[in-house]
Amino acid sequence: MSENKKPIKVALEADKKYAWCTCSHSESQPFCDGSHRAHNATPSMSFEVEEAKEAYLCTCKKTNNPPYCDGAHNK
Ligand code: FES
Repeated sequence: MSENKKPIKVALEADKKYAWCTCSHSESQPFCDGSHRAHNATPSMSFEVEEAKEAYLCTCKKTNNPPYCDGAHNK
């Protein structure tokens, strides 16, 4: 299901709390939309950044550096 999912580029704001979807069920990738509850799946991972920046967030959920893409979708 999560094969070959490319990362999504997002503009992150400083000191804002984000919830990265860890379960793949969210329809608002790469962020959690609460769907994990209905699927009894893993909850979101919250994170924030100290400075505003653009980043590629993982959607294949195989990254070893969540929430960021580490190229795992190509492996
Ligand atoms: S919907 Fe996937 S972690 Fe919440």
